[in-house]
Amino acid sequence: MITAEENRLLTQTCPGTPCGELMRRYWQPVALGEELPAGGAPLKVKILGEELVLFRDDQGRPGLIGLHCSHRGTDLSYGRIEDGGLRCLYHGWLYDVCGRVIDQPGEPGGGANKGAIRHLAYPCQDAGGVVFTYMGPGEPPLLPNYEFLTVPEVQRSVTRIFYRCNYLQGNEGNIDPVHLSFLHQSLNEAEVVYKRIVPGTGTTDNALLAKDIAPTIEVEVMDYGLRIYTLRGAESNKTYLRVTNFIMPNLSAFGGSTVGEGYSVHWHVPIDDWCHWKYVFMFSRERALSDDLRKKHRADITPDYRLSREAANRYQQDRDSMLTKTFTGMGFNFQAHDAFATESQGLIQDRTSEHLVTSDKAIIGARKLLQSGIEDVKQGRQPRHRISDPQANQFPHLTVISEAIPNATHWKDYADKLVEKTRAR
Ligand code: FES
Ligand SMILES: [Fe+2]
Repeated sequence: MITAEENRLLTQTCPGTPCGELMRRYWQPVALGEELPAGGAPLKVKILGEELVLFRDDQGRPGLIGLHCSHRGTDLSYGRIEDGGLRCLYHGWLYDVCGRVIDQPGEPGGGANKGAIRHLAYPCQDAGGVVFTYMGPGEPPLLPNYEFLTVPEVQRSVTRIFYRCNYLQGNEGNIDPVHLSFLHQSLNEAEVVYKRIVPGTGTTDNALLAKDIAPTIEVEVMDYGLRIYTLRGAESNKTYLRVTNFIMPNLSAFGGSTVGEGYSVHWHVPIDDWCHWKYVFMFSRERALSDDLRKKHRADITPDYRLSREAANRYQQDRDSMLTKTFTGMGFNFQAHDAFATESQGLIQDRTSEHLVTSDKAIIGARKLLQSGIEDVKQGRQPRHRISDPQANQFPHLTVISEAIPNATHWKDYADKLVEKTRAR
């Protein structure tokens, strides 16, 4: 349980809020690359409570600028892409990707004072099938060289999903290992979407998650955030070890269908305080993803990136299927389960009435890191995991594990040895 004030501190990210200031110290996804093809229409976007327009100029450069024209406020997302920028439809002012007004065609000589106008603009860059932006002050940090952003395109899949709730609920779901044994439990092994035999066992993840529903959870503070170890009993003398990660300030890495050769990531970007986009990455460091896997990754997501199961249709819950198919009665796709669990907590969960228990260890740890990041920014210090040193911009220690290990092996030693192996590659 936290106080109302602490809850506000962690959940409010609009301009001028302490957590908004923290979020703005990092690159954040603002759209999928597929939404902004060369020559495509500008996109009206809202991120961290700010209304903006994202566009790609006629040289292919992405730009993110204030939505309303600096002249008399017309919506620039209807504008024309031409002549090195985005042109307002009302009187033809032309903006480049840096927010400079480069033409005022209705003024004598194209506008003698146009250089004095500074239209709001944020730097952007393309990486990993996503357009990123930096909305903070000063020089942007480096965009982290996460593996999921740097592998070849054929080895990665990315999409996004609209969530009608605060970003923090989404992210706290990712770092809550116990819910896997309940919310995502399939009662019918034959219909599990991502079926996998856990290395070191003859059993599936689904069966092992059902076998030990009260795991031991350990949390280790890392330079990027938290490494979370979840230990469940497996076959005799083996432990089912899952390692997941909270990455500052609003993403998580966990074992999805590519675990062992890659992992999955959920990156929760506030639209405003009441809804957010979850960017969903999956990658393999070893091979191209199959068409089947890509299809599953986007299953049940509409062309405008909404889930077909939603609150308005009660997530299409079928109570008969709760007896034979799934714990939730909401189909086998875990994305729908997560949306139900987190959206139904309320637009902003009232954390003053929650009752945290021992298995909420990682959630408590992540809140502490966010609070200390907020304090760092307030004091003028660099918050954790803001990268400015190229030497520090690599993350072999950001490891994700889902396998059975001998009981005699210590879970931390196992993870560290695996990291050494990755480093040596
Ligand atoms: S309002 Fe945009 S050019 Fe006049
Ligand atoms: Fe989940």
